[in-house]
Formats: sequence, C-alpha cells, structure tokens
Amino acid sequence: EKGGYKHFMLKEIYEQPDAVADTLRFGVEDMPSVFGMSGKQIKNIKKIQIIACGTAYHAGLCSKYFIEEYSGIPVEVDYASEYKYRFVPSTPGTLAIAVSQSGETADTIAAMKKAKEAGFKTLAICNVLGSTLTRMADHTFFTRCGLEISVASTKAFTSQLAALYGLAVFLGFQRGVLNSAQFKKYSTEFFALPRLLENTIKNTAEAVKKTAKKIYKEKTFVFLGRSANYPIALEGALKLKEISYLHAEGFPGGEIKHGPIAIIDSHVPVFVLAPKDNLFEKMLSACEETAARGAKVIAVTDKKGAEILGKKVFALVKIPEANSFLTAILNAVVVQFFAYYIADLRKCEIDQPRNLAKSVTVE
Ligand code: M6R
Repeated sequence: EKGGYKHFMLKEIYEQPDAVADTLRFGVEDMPSVFGMSGKQIKNIKKIQIIACGTAYHAGLCSKYFIEEYSGIPVEVDYASEYKYRFVPSTPGTLAIAVSQSGETADTIAAMKKAKEAGFKTLAICNVLGSTLTRMADHTFFTRCGLEISVASTKAFTSQLAALYGLAVFLGFQRGVLNSAQFKKYSTEFFALPRLLENTIKNTAEAVKKTAKKIYKEKTFVFLGRSANYPIALEGALKLKEISYLHAEGFPGGEIKHGPIAIIDSHVPVFVLAPKDNLFEKMLSACEETAARGAKVIAVTDKKGAEILGKKVFALVKIPEANSFLTAILNAVVVQFFAYYIADLRKCEIDQPRNLAKSVTVE
C-alpha cells in the first residue's frame, strides 16, 4: 500500500501535485458554490477568524498574509485550544473558518462551537466528508487530498493552503479589491500549482537529501521565513520535531536579532526560506548574520535568488519561480522533505512517531 515508497509520509509528499489538483478540481465560475457564499454575504464580511491546531494552524496563519492583501478583510488566526478559553468580542460580520484534516480534532470542534454560539457564520476547510466539524459548519470546502495515513501531515497541509489561497483570490475579486486582470492573473497562477509542485518535488528531493546527510547529527535546527513563508518556517520546525524528536524552532526572519540569534553557533544549521521577492534583501541579511556566527545556512530560493546567494551559503535548494505567496506552498514541500530525510537518517519511526496520534480527539 506504500506504492514502493519506504514510508507513507514520503508517498504522501509525492502525492501532493495530484492531491492539490484534486482539491482544485473546480473552475473560476464554480467558486461561489465551492466556498458557499453569495456576493452579498461576501460584501458583509467584516473580519475573518481562523481556528485550527498544529499544521492546520500554520496553513491558517500563512493564509492571513494573502487573504488580507487580496481581499482587504482583517484576519485573526488563533490556536483552537486558545480561542476556546479566551474572551472573544462578538464582532458582527465575522466569518469563522475552521481548518482541519480530520474534522475530529476536539480543540477545533470546541472552538467552532464557540464561534457558532457567538453567532458567526462558519466555514470548515476539511478533508473528511461527514466528520463532526463538517456537520457543524454552515458550509464546507473539501480538500480532496485522499486518505492521509502518516501522522505527520503533508498533503493535507498543501491542500489547505491551496484552498485558502483560492478563497483569498475569490474574496478579493468579489469585493472589488482585485480587478478582472488581477483576478485572471492570480487564478491562472493558482490553477498552475500542481505543475509547480511537481517541479518542486523533481528539483529539490535530491538536493535536500544530500544536505540532510551533512547535518543530520546536529541537535538543534532553526527555520527562518518572512511574510507567508514565516508560517512555513514554523511548519518546518514542527515537522522536524514530530518525526525526528530534535529541537527545532521557526522564527520570522526579522525577529532573530531580537533574541534567538543568541542560540546560533556552528552546530545550529539555519534553514532560510528566501524567494526572490520584496523581502529577499532582508532574508539575505538573515543568512549573513547567522553565517557570521558560524551557522551552516541552507537557503531555499529560486533561480534569481540563487545567483546572489550562490557562494554565500552552505547549501542551496532551488524551487521554481512563482509569486511570493505561492512560493510558501512550494517551500512547504522542501521543509517536509528536509524533516523526512533527517528522520530517516536518524532511523526514526517516521509514520508513527512516539507520543503522537493522527487525530487528537481529546481536549
Ligand atoms: O486533523 P487536524 O488537521 O485537525 O489535526 C490538527 C493537528 O493535530 C495536526 O495538524 C498535527 O499537528 C499533525 N501531527 C501535524 O503533522
């Protein structure tokens, strides 16, 4: 059933182009029914509240960047377990979006209940038809990525990101923030995601594996990213913790100088997500600052970024060129590969990591 792959996790990483293609199996004209919102409802949204746990939370946090930029709607992202126990102002016009692979995560269900009690309209982005969450929500967007067996989530994550990106573009157009030309441009790029993911897998697997071999004995790893790539840095650290039991942390690139740089030395490899976008120069400084403290810097960038970073870093991983937000979805694959190969070299139980269950059905 592993289809020739050593682990389900690796199989599911490779399934991502198909998983995302299945998730995006709709046309631009189907968007209102896919997201379950009429033009009038969309115009009335004043705020989006995202609630989720773990990897799904990272998808939500990443989407804040593109939903706000494309639609102009303020987005708040909470861990479901925190949302449930904090004071929530009942802002009229709030759309609550719960993101969950299983639809059975107790914390997310509890947070959804609270959102409903507050009178918010609710949308579930979920991978399991008929799950508790989908039965509670006013509307469900299905990520059709198929059964995910590995405890460490991979294809569900990229499918959630694709769904949220589609939602951002759709909301932006419906609210008149994006004009027709922009809508067309972003939708075209968006529907090309499966192909971009395929190229990413093809072009990065070997480079990541080779790099992992050089550093897998280290005990602490740092991941840096900015904007939509910051949550991907968090996700890279989570993946590594989950399956290799190593200490890993993710930070926004600009925060490192405010404290975390103190932990950097030659035994702390630093993984820098640095597409050649408007924040590239900032990420370049993060590479230089950490390298100056002896860190082995692994930069993930595109062709143009590689021309500049080439000789400055310990290793380079090249992703295809794409718009800055979409690079976050491509970089997700790279950090998954990285966690996978490190865990494999360390001979860890990849599909069934210690202390973890596929869905956490207790609060
Ligand atoms: O089924 P859900 O998406 O609601 O699960 C949420 C988290 O428990 C889940 O993403 C967890 O963090 C995974 N082990 C991540 O790899």
